[in-house]
Formats: sequence, C-alpha cells, structure tokens
Amino acid sequence: MSAELICINGECRARFPVTEVIYNCPRCGALLEVDYPGRELNPEAAKRLFRERRMDNAPLNQSGVWRYRELIGFLDDYRQVVTLREGNTPLLASPRAARYGGLDRLAFKHQGFNPTGSFKDNGMTCGVAQALRLGMKRVACVSTGNTSASMTAYAAAAGLRPVIFIPHGNISYGKLAQALEYGARTLQVEANFDQILALVRKLAEQLGIYLLNSINPFRIEGQKSIAIEMMDQRDWNPPDWIVLPGGNLGNISALGKALRELVDLGFIPRLPKLAVIQATGAAPFYRFMQDPRPDNFEPEREPETLATAIRIGAPVSWPKAWREVAASGGAVEQVSEEEIADAKAQIGAAGIGCEPASAATLAGIRKLTATGVIDQGADVVAVLTGNLLKDPDYVYRYHTGQLKTAAGHEIHGHFENRPEVVPNDPEKIAVLLAD
Ligand code: F0G
Repeated sequence: MSAELICINGECRARFPVTEVIYNCPRCGALLEVDYPGRELNPEAAKRLFRERRMDNAPLNQSGVWRYRELIGFLDDYRQVVTLREGNTPLLASPRAARYGGLDRLAFKHQGFNPTGSFKDNGMTCGVAQALRLGMKRVACVSTGNTSASMTAYAAAAGLRPVIFIPHGNISYGKLAQALEYGARTLQVEANFDQILALVRKLAEQLGIYLLNSINPFRIEGQKSIAIEMMDQRDWNPPDWIVLPGGNLGNISALGKALRELVDLGFIPRLPKLAVIQATGAAPFYRFMQDPRPDNFEPEREPETLATAIRIGAPVSWPKAWREVAASGGAVEQVSEEEIADAKAQIGAAGIGCEPASAATLAGIRKLTATGVIDQGADVVAVLTGNLLKDPDYVYRYHTGQLKTAAGHEIHGHFENRPEVVPNDPEKIAVLLAD
C-alpha cells in the first residue's frame, strides 16, 4: 500500500513522501497528515482478519494498534516495530456514571489500561516505528506528562535515546516518575507547554532529533486505533456520540480521521458526533468554536487547570480538530475545576477511576445533556485518556478537602471520602463500624 504525507490546507494540498522528515507543509506551513491514495479494502474480509488476529500469539497481532495495520499502513516493513501490546483497552459500561451524566447508558473506552497508563501508547508505537525507519537515534517531545512517559518507554524498548522537555512544577509525579524510570534525559523548563513546544521545534531541527509530539502525523495514525478498536468492540456499530477531553487537540484529530476513513471504506455506516471538552482555564478551542473563522483562533496566554494533562493554551492541531468536530456535527464544551473533580470522583466511585483530564468527559456530558445537546437516550462512549494512578496527589487532596487551584481557590468536592485515624482498639473500631 502506498502512503504519502499531504498538507491539510485545502488551497495547498501539496504531497510529500512519507520518508521526508517534516512536521508542517514546507510550502504553506499548515499541518500534515498521512494519506493512502487509491486504498481499497474489503471491509468484511478485513473485519474477519482483525478478529482472527486477536487469537494469534504473534506480537504484532496482539497489539491493539498493529492488529489493524491495513488501516494505518504507512510502513512497508514491520520487522522494526516495537510493541508493548498497547491498545486492547476495555469498553466499560457504567450505569452509575450514566446517571450522573444525565444519560440512560454510558460506556468508557478506558485508555488508562495501556502499558504506560495513557492513550499516548497507541500513537507512540507508530511514532517510534517511523523514527526507526528514518534511522533516527534520538527522539524528543514536550509534554504535560503522558507523552513523555510513553515516548520514553517506547524509545527505551527500541534502543533510541529519549529527551523530554516538561514544564517545571506542572506535571504530576506519577508521570515524571515513569519518565525517570524508563531513562529519559529530562529537562524541566521554566515555561509552559506552549512556550516549550516552540523551543523544542527549533532544537529538534537544529540537532537532528526526531520530534514525537502530536504534530507528528504518524502518532496521529496510531491514535486512530482508539476509534477503530472501539468500533470493532461494538461490532462496527457506531455510537451516537464519542466524547473526549481536549488539550493539544491531537486525539480528536486522530479519532475524527479514523471515523471518516472507516465510513469512506465502508466499515461503518455513519459518523458518530464528536464532543471535545476543555477545562475552563485552558479552553481556547471552546472559545474559538463559539464563532469559528480561520483567522479567529486566540490562544490562551496563561492556561491554568489542575488537570495538568490539558493545561495547554495554544493547541497546534486546532485546524484539524475544527474540521473533525464540524464534519461530525459535534460540540465543544468547557467545564470548571469543581465539575472535573466531582466527575472524577464519580468515575472512581463506579469502580473505574481515571486521571483528572479524563474526567472532563463526564463533566462535559453532564452539561451537554442538561442543555439538550445530547439526548438522555443517546448511545454515548467517553474516552478516559489516563489511569487513576497517574496523579494520586490530586486524588488525596480531593478526598481530604485540600484541593486548591493555582490561585488558591478551594475546591469544595461533593464526594469526599476521608480516611479516618483510629486507635488500635478493636472495641472502638467495632463501634465505628456498627452499621
Ligand atoms: N488526557 C490526557 C490524560 C492527556 O495526557 C492529554 C494530553 C489529553 C487528554 C489531551 O489530548 O492533547 O490530544 O488533545 N497530553 C499531552 C501530553 C499534551 O503531553 O501528555 P490532546
């Protein structure tokens, strides 16, 4: 199968070989994506093949990304692929979370079950495969934490040298700990994500380091598998809505591209609507979508949210995200710190759990059902992007009434669950536990 890079700008549409090391269109500067000219697949045969591969022990077929390789076929040789068995994440129905969100039913596609605990692994196995194909020795990213944890793991497994740039003081220890353990050269920069991305893009070019942020179109190809696997798990019946948190807007771009391709190839009958939820303090895409015009995108200069994963003010993939939300007839919402914190506690109380950014989905659903954008009876899947254990500090503070915003504003959670200190005295404990 032949693959090419194509500029997403409708007036440019320049094409380049997939082996060129470029992240933006050299002609007009717009974003690039992978295109498969003339690709044709027999959907029924492919669906059967994907099912058979689930029962196969070959590493590539055990991967919830590479199992679907005909739909992400930018490589022509798979021998160098490094898989940590990414993907294979469950769809978990939760009546309790559905009630909280104002729905009759709701399922979570839980990407926190990935090898490094976030959805980044789906894309990173592809990004690192491309780095190997290009003969790169070092890979780099700026990250709010999950990208750096994932990139470092895959780079380490592939024998590449990872360099990560993170906003000093603004990533959770769970994520930083992973990167240190997997062996990243770790630079904590005194700047925010957006400022560091500008810096890293210059440095990557100057030093010949391969950039693995979500601007990298091969990572987006890998993240498509989140939607592909979701459809496979639903026997190729699309839901009415898919809801996900938005930060740098790479994931919405990936899911939207996957779903459009699945419709075009005849795998699914229609596009689900896509909803993106942002934190109020880091919601430039939400504001843009109130009056979307190409020259109207205003970055948030000082993004602020305790959901540090999505603390991003200048999301690079906004033009792709706009295209996908518009194509699906979807929606964009913003939610407060308190709404995120409470929704997160509800997802936890359902026995599922996730990190703060992921919980923006349920908080957003609650708002979108209240305003009638999503019907109570709709079939909805929310993507939980990261594992509960990514940010235990946040969890502890919430449940002990100590969660505060950067400006010192206290968050009054409605579902606190305080630990109790008790004497080493069975009688007193028995009194406490008498129901
Ligand atoms: N949820 C989590 C847990 C994330 O880590 C991120 C992004 C997002 C949602 C938003 O996804 O950027 O594709 O819109 N984390 C990046 C990182 C920025 O560096 O780990 P997006």
